[in-house]
Amino acid sequence: MRAGELVAFPTETVYGLGGDAANPRAVAAIFAAKRRPEFNPLIVHVADLAAAERIARFDARARAYAARFWPGALTLVLPRRDGGGIADLACAGLDTVAVRVPAHPAAQRLLRAAAVPVAAPSANRSGRISPTAAAHVADELGDRVALILDAGACPVGIESTILDLSGAAPQVLRLGGVTLEALGAVAVAVDAPRPRGPGQLPSHYAPALPVRLMASEARPGEALLAFGPAPPGAVLNLSPRGDLAEAAANLFAMLRRLDRPDFTGIAVMPIPERGLGRAINDRLRRAAAPRPA
Ligand code: TXA
Ligand code: MG
Repeated sequence: MRAGELVAFPTETVYGLGGDAANPRAVAAIFAAKRRPEFNPLIVHVADLAAAERIARFDARARAYAARFWPGALTLVLPRRDGGGIADLACAGLDTVAVRVPAHPAAQRLLRAAAVPVAAPSANRSGRISPTAAAHVADELGDRVALILDAGACPVGIESTILDLSGAAPQVLRLGGVTLEALGAVAVAVDAPRPRGPGQLPSHYAPALPVRLMASEARPGEALLAFGPAPPGAVLNLSPRGDLAEAAANLFAMLRRLDRPDFTGIAVMPIPERGLGRAINDRLRRAAAPRPA
């Protein structure tokens, strides 16, 4: 990584495609490998708050969120610190930077050993489902990385929650592994997040097959992805006992497994709109949204 090469690594949310955030060539290689549009900025990963404070400007409110949720599945969007050394391309030229301190022990060890801020989008081709296992990364980006650190399945399984603290009122830009309930009394505009990049565009996170939501059973040819007690014929079940954390951890891997030509589509049973269910439904709605031609 210090030599400017890309390393895929696990976090508790999803696998990231990491490169030295201070090295413009490494950051450019990330965009090229993912075929990601360059107007969509990257999350910069660091080992702790002290390292985060070297690249972003924290006020008391930001420190309070960091104290409560780091290390963990929360990304904070903050004003960039002058001289922080992050490549402009990583921030897509914005005067803000998205920073995250992941909790996964393998990510922590990598960040401490590398001792550079690590720009890392999810390690999938742009517009595809995020990887929650090393094999998913190998399938999509195996020829573009120097190394894939394999630590098994990601325990949270859904990307980090992105909280924008660069304005007067905190705003959730993406629902994720930290629930709105846990964020607490934050004033949020989750129904109409500002479209800032492909991660916020309707058709992101799409499997190849069409996805149908709120299904009670499979239509002919469809694979039924169940939640809770399932009707006969369900192919996979996100969580037989109706546990939202288990469903989040299974979501992307199960969508990948069902995304194959023996089915005509993926039908998904309803998921309750609370806790992690909100983030799950957000990803499912994007997967089911009309695709660009
Ligand atoms: O869980 C995660 O967040 C994973 C792991 C690897 O950390 N990363 C991830 O990165 O999901 P990515 O690139 O797939 O999604 C990052 C999102 C994008 O939607 C991008 O638009 C947004 O973060 N973002 C990055 N910098 C931003 C900024 N300065 N202002 C607003 N949004 C920003
Ligand atoms: Mg992504």
